[in-house]
Amino acid sequence: MPDIQRFACLGKQDTIPQDSGAGKAGRARRAKRGGNPIYPRRAFLAFLVLHASQSINAGGIFQHPATFIPSITIEIPVRRPLIIGNWKMNKTASEAAAFIQDLRERVPASPNADVVVAPPFTALESVRNALGPSSWISLGAQNVHWETHGAFTGEVSAPMLRDLGCRYVIVGHSERRTLFGERDESILKKVRAALRHGLSPILCVGESLAERESGRTESVVTAQLDGSLAGLTPQDLATVTIAYEPVWAIGTGRAATTEQAVTVHRSIRLFIETGWDSKTASTIRILYGGSVTPQNIESLLASDAIDGALVGGACLNTDSFATIISVAQTQRD
Ligand code: 13P
Repeated sequence: MPDIQRFACLGKQDTIPQDSGAGKAGRARRAKRGGNPIYPRRAFLAFLVLHASQSINAGGIFQHPATFIPSITIEIPVRRPLIIGNWKMNKTASEAAAFIQDLRERVPASPNADVVVAPPFTALESVRNALGPSSWISLGAQNVHWETHGAFTGEVSAPMLRDLGCRYVIVGHSERRTLFGERDESILKKVRAALRHGLSPILCVGESLAERESGRTESVVTAQLDGSLAGLTPQDLATVTIAYEPVWAIGTGRAATTEQAVTVHRSIRLFIETGWDSKTASTIRILYGGSVTPQNIESLLASDAIDGALVGGACLNTDSFATIISVAQTQRD
């Protein structure tokens, strides 16, 4: 078997605490590996993974005169910040186009952060046109049906969204769960449909105030993840983003503290590691959502555990959304 050594090359790292609800299997795997996984903070951090094994000599880079020929693979788990504006049921098609024009004038393109806007279905086309063909801002939808077509009055399918230029879709938002009765079972079908048709799902999870106050945050979030990601492969998860949105923080002006968000983000990452593998866990992006503003974005993104934000109210105003994007573009460049 290949002898794999890992070297963390540069910078600060994010580690996962061993006692945050990993479950037996995860603890056993980590113990076997001799410690907790290390997650790199910045894009330029790299793990140099040295595979030295006769069994993979054929793929070796260095030609060595001895029988032992090492092969070097460099893995760069990049978690570029992602800022998503969830417009909810706001803006007509013409208001949306004007907004995008204004936003583009205020914020320059940057490779340091990904930006997505998720307008209502009715404004997708005008936003696509306002963004232009090669925009650095991507288009997302707020919901999707799991079937491709048929007698589903009022619903919109993944191929329809793709046809309108969408690359992302928000799935399982707490407003969909609480106001429209969505359950993990249907959310999983939506995640699967999105993946089948080349859309990246933004899966929302989060606890209510009562659940937090009764100490059930982690079990609620874990159960939501369990139900909404069941049976997905690591390849599937490579295009999934998770958004932790505590219900009590949405639209209330009472954001979670960075510490509260980080605790949940770490348990989510640990859940992914336990259920899938450490590579999947180290690359999946976990966003925070709930009363994100220009005032608190810097503190949230200061943590390695928070890979971006799902913004509601503050994304409806170009000033505040532009500021949030600028912080993400500069804070981790
Ligand atoms: P607010 O930012 O308005 O709290 O909304 C968060 C949200 O629900 C984003 O999906």
